[in-house]
Amino acid sequence: LAPPRLAGRRVLVSAGPTFEDIDPVRFIGNRSSGKMGFAVAAAARRLGAEVTLVAGPVALDTPAGVRRVDVRRAAQMREAVLAALPDHDVYIGAAAVADYAPAETLPQKLKKAGESLQITLVRTADILADVAAHAARPRLVVGFAAETQDLEAYARDKLHRKGLDLIAANDVSRAGHGFEGDDNALSVFWREGRRDIAHGPKTAVARELMDLVADRLEAEA
Ligand code: C5P
Repeated sequence: LAPPRLAGRRVLVSAGPTFEDIDPVRFIGNRSSGKMGFAVAAAARRLGAEVTLVAGPVALDTPAGVRRVDVRRAAQMREAVLAALPDHDVYIGAAAVADYAPAETLPQKLKKAGESLQITLVRTADILADVAAHAARPRLVVGFAAETQDLEAYARDKLHRKGLDLIAANDVSRAGHGFEGDDNALSVFWREGRRDIAHGPKTAVARELMDLVADRLEAEA
C-alpha cells in the first residue's frame, strides 16, 4: 500500500473572514463562511499532511486531526500565520482578509450623533505577499482570488505581484461559486500551466486542489 500523497508534509491554511472592530459592539466583516478553507484543511489531512488551520470567526467544526488557531482581526491572523510558518512545506491563503481596518478601535460604544459619520480605515498588511517574501517561505505558496471579471488576467497578475506558486481563482459573479455556499468551481493557475476544477461540493473541489498541490510539490522536488 502506497503512503498517502502528502504524508510527511506540513500544510498551513488560513480560512474564514476577519472582523475589524470599530467599538466593543461593532465591526467590519465580510461574507466568507470559511467552508472552502476548512475543506482544504480537511483534504490535506486526509492526504496524510500535518495541518495547521488559522481560522477567522466562523461557525464550523475543526476537521478531524487538524490543529486549529482561532483569530479575529487581520493583524492577529498575520501574527498567527507568521508564528506558525517555519517548517511548513505549503501555505494556502484561503481567508478573506479585510483590506482595510478602522484606524482605531474605540474603547466605548460609539454614540449616535449627527446625520453622517466618518470612520477612517487604513490598509492592512497583505499576509499572503508577506508569506511569499518571508525568510521561512514554504516551498509552495498558494493564494485564492475571487473575481467578477477577466478571471485569468487578474489571477495571473496576483500570481506575479504577490510572488505565488499557485493561484486558485473563482468567478464570484456566477451563482453557486464561492462565498457562503457549499459548492464552488476553481481555475487554478501557475507560471506554466492551468487546471480547471469542475463545479461541485467544496469538499470535492478541495480534494482536487490538494491533488494538484501534491503534483506541484513533486514537480518541484
Ligand atoms: O488581492 P486579493 O485580496 O484579491 O488577493 C486574495 C488573496 O490574498 C487571498 O489568498 C487572500 O487570503 C490573500 N490576502 C492576504 N492578506 C490580505 C489580503 C488578501 O493574505 N490583506
